Amino acid sequence: MTDLIEVKGIAKAFGGIKALNGCSFTVQKGDIHGLIGPNGSGKTTLFNVMTGYERPDAGSVNFNGKEITGQSPGKIFRMGIGRTFQLTRVFSRLSVLDNMLIAAQHQHKWFKSALRSPGQGGERQRALDLLDFVGIARLAELEAGSLSYGQRKLLELAYLLMADPDVLFLDEPAGGVNPTLINQLTERIRELNAAGKTILVVEHNMEFVMGLCDRITVMHQGVALLTDLPATVRSDPRVLDAYLGGVEEEAEGGDPDSMADATFTQADRSES
Ligand SMILES: Nc1ncnc2c1ncn2[C@@H]1O[C@H](COP(=O)(O)OP(=O)(O)OP(=O)(O)O)[C@@H](O)[C@H]1O
Ligand SMILES: [Mg+2]
Repeated sequence: MTDLIEVKGIAKAFGGIKALNGCSFTVQKGDIHGLIGPNGSGKTTLFNVMTGYERPDAGSVNFNGKEITGQSPGKIFRMGIGRTFQLTRVFSRLSVLDNMLIAAQHQHKWFKSALRSPGQGGERQRALDLLDFVGIARLAELEAGSLSYGQRKLLELAYLLMADPDVLFLDEPAGGVNPTLINQLTERIRELNAAGKTILVVEHNMEFVMGLCDRITVMHQGVALLTDLPATVRSDPRVLDAYLGGVEEEAEGGDPDSMADATFTQADRSES
């Protein structure tokens, strides 16, 4: 096993809130690696630090044996780490297809060269192929603003794939996506992984995470509580504690073994 990404002792505070408080874990090359934890445990902040959108107060991030801590988002993207955002970023007044073509333009600018430049016609075809890949090709001519939240998440994944990054960071890709499309999304992520991509995915949908990931890191109050195989994580009492910790009164009388209940509550909240 090769460590592709090594996160060491990352700390990040916003005013008095310690969003990350000495977070360390590693991602192996070729894995689908899950990142779970209750709302506010620091998952998105960690993504932001790892992709250059936030500068950490302490700690380091290594990628392929090279320190990337504090590098710009563009530089980290060019090194091969692409990410999606928890709250999708699409141009609502443009069509789905035009959003994809803008992705291509934007990424060319970031790559500063014709790294993957198949020309206008080629780009259009590639955009359509990727929309088809994520299951929303039939929506290509619609205004992106008319898509459901779940469809926007799929558009954002397709958008990211225009650049063909080696590593994909996905922040709640299944949030708001309907069950049929979630199954399709699972298959697509597996295909991307089989094609050699390493994937780090944040999700509250436990069925999705447990079924998809090779390894899972559990975040709690800004630290990585543990990293292990899905089956081990599922039965670790610390994980249940992390999810139920703040809501003991609410959980009283409920089924204490039901991690699914706890996490679905989290998912509901994250959609509001
Ligand atoms: N830009 C910011 N300014 C102030 N506080 C922030 C900022 N970003 C995050 N936080 C705080 O840091 C903590 C961690 O937030 P973060 O968004 O990383 O959690 P998360 O695990 O992604 O949660 P969720 O599952 O709800 O998406 C929270 O207390 C949050 O309110
Ligand atoms: Mg988040």
